Amino acid sequence: MSDTAHQDQNGGIVPVPSHVDPKLVVDFDYEKPPGIEDGDTYKALKRLHAGPDIVWTPRHGGHWIVTRAEDIKWVQETYQLFSHKAFSSQGRSPFIPPISVDPPDSIRYRALFNPYFTKRRVEDVYQISTREIIVDLIEKLRPKGRCEFVREFAFIAPVSVFFNVVNLPLSRREEFLEWGRMNSWGENEGVRAKGRMAMIDYIKGLLKDREKNPGDDIFTSISGFRNNSRFQNEDEIIGMAYLVFVAGQDTVAAQMSFAAWQMAQRPELHHRLRDDPAILPQAVEEFLRRHGLSNTFRLIVDDCERKGVQFKKGDLVMVPIGLSGLDERSYDDPFRVDFDRPPAPHNTFGNGAHLCVAATLARMEIRVFLEEWSKRMPPVRFDPDKPAPVSHAGAINGLSHLHLAWDV
Ligand code: HEM
Repeated sequence: MSDTAHQDQNGGIVPVPSHVDPKLVVDFDYEKPPGIEDGDTYKALKRLHAGPDIVWTPRHGGHWIVTRAEDIKWVQETYQLFSHKAFSSQGRSPFIPPISVDPPDSIRYRALFNPYFTKRRVEDVYQISTREIIVDLIEKLRPKGRCEFVREFAFIAPVSVFFNVVNLPLSRREEFLEWGRMNSWGENEGVRAKGRMAMIDYIKGLLKDREKNPGDDIFTSISGFRNNSRFQNEDEIIGMAYLVFVAGQDTVAAQMSFAAWQMAQRPELHHRLRDDPAILPQAVEEFLRRHGLSNTFRLIVDDCERKGVQFKKGDLVMVPIGLSGLDERSYDDPFRVDFDRPPAPHNTFGNGAHLCVAATLARMEIRVFLEEWSKRMPPVRFDPDKPAPVSHAGAINGLSHLHLAWDV
């Protein structure tokens, strides 16, 4: 590619800055990575491993991409150089603490979240209602013999679990799902913003309600943050509540969908989970490793160098977690889901200051899903009468649809 890119119709392409070595320039759009038209986000992302470890793309205003697991971990951990004030390609992020705030300020927000996601609370309290929800959804699907898994299961399960965790009535679930669909899948920014605004209005009402009628839940604590000595303004509270509402929806839905996608291709995975439930915790980690989800960004706050590449203050760097688990330097045969793989840490929940605060909840949801699904369902296959599965990329990788069929 030439060292000077041109503005395209969308205005997303910018000229290559002089500090970027032209040999590192690739034409890579993280929302539509080359090759995604073949239907598999991960194969499309993996193409980046054919080039240098760190590359620069002129798309989305121009940004770096660290492609290898070791560099992804380094960026995630080195908050002193890589700020979360810009964690999307849009530059400065909306104020949704703790994710948009750097340490040490992020710590006081995380302190509010942490007690709600301890292992004990997740396993002893949330697990019970999670299992009921998942069993109920599976039992309703099973007699049908087919489903579109993403919409009929994967998106409903985590919203329902979260509603229970925060003591919200399931009767409001459909509304919330619709706003979530608009926010994540809306055909244009207008529709997406409408979905977001509806959620924010709902959250405002909820926080008022929890102030008057406190309970033992995270929204009660968030509304109580007004009494914190370091409280600044209402945006903090709404931002925190919005983040915790949305952070566990597309992510858990995508993880469940990719696991079902794998099981439809390889029924032996389904049989193994059913026949050997002791493998479930390892299976959860292996599915997480294989399907890293988020493509977040960082703002570089000081000039620095890595592997001979010069990063400049003000540059953006993308952290494609999906590539981390596919790095053959860290994992043998990385595309293969192998529950017996020697235990190897993955970066799917991030690392360091912004490590997913609810990883315990996410892991439990996926484990219960795998356990109940493999126990209650016969092995599934791709529905031969429906379109083949299609995956998408963007801020969160996911499956757009997954038509499954099984014997009734
Ligand atoms: C498979 C499911 C999930 C995955 C893969 C995932 C992944 C992540 C990652 C990678 C980050 C850090 C982002 C970054 O460094 O830029 C993060 C942060 C976060 N996640 Fe999760 N997550 C999942 C589920 C959840 C759930 C269920 C919730 C809440 C109900 C949640 C709440 C959060 C919050 C609040 C943060 C911000 C933490 C901070 O900035 O300090 N996540 N997650």
